[in-house]
Amino acid sequence: YLVCPMNTSPYVDPHKPSQEIWEEFSMGFTPAVREVVDFAKRIPGFRDLPEHDQVGLLKAGTFEVLMVRFASLFNVVERTVTFLSGKRYSLDTLWALGAGELLNSMCEFSEKLAALRLDSDEMSLFTAVVLVSADRSGIQDLNSVEALQDKLIRGLRNLVMQNHGEESATTFTKLLLKLPELRSLNNMHSEELLSFKVHP
Ligand code: HEM
Repeated sequence: YLVCPMNTSPYVDPHKPSQEIWEEFSMGFTPAVREVVDFAKRIPGFRDLPEHDQVGLLKAGTFEVLMVRFASLFNVVERTVTFLSGKRYSLDTLWALGAGELLNSMCEFSEKLAALRLDSDEMSLFTAVVLVSADRSGIQDLNSVEALQDKLIRGLRNLVMQNHGEESATTFTKLLLKLPELRSLNNMHSEELLSFKVHP
């Protein structure tokens, strides 16, 4: 089984060589990863960062960006997850196939993000903040990354303040609190990925 929704289905043919399984899986998620790169290039100021830092932020932050973008795959009301193929599976099925606490945490994250009712502009700007807030280990020009982060956070704050009336301040705070949650999902997910590689 491969219970990641970036796959077409959680079931894999046990007779298939593991290399083929990875190749098919990567055909599924590669377009999504490429979209993150294209999105990054369109963030005003991102391309002015040193190339090394652009790559570093993308490496560290792509999963977090995808998590935000694909949060709607997790349907907490119906207790289902839609895979990239469009097929839906119940949480019970995925647990039976080996998914665990991480699946729960991702559902919870998605539910809370949806509750903030962001429009598409807010979602884009939040996603840009997520990317430039990625892990900075190895970043060369920290000052420029921080300046860009500040600029994007101010933009997000202005937008949320315009759109969310009385709830503006809490909505903005809750969004910023999503950043460490995303980091922790990223870390847990990397562990799943690594252990899957070790025991395919
Ligand atoms: C689990 C790969 C992105 C959600 C996994 C596993 C792998 C993997 C190898 C372990 C599967 C298993 O043990 O059966 C990848 C790769 C990604 C990616 C290469 C690169 C784009 C994502 C994204 C999400 C996600 C963006 C969420 C939107 C999950 C979930 C699980 C999982 C829910 C199962 C967690 C659990 O066991 O509780 N992923 N994934 N993955 N992934 Fe991904």
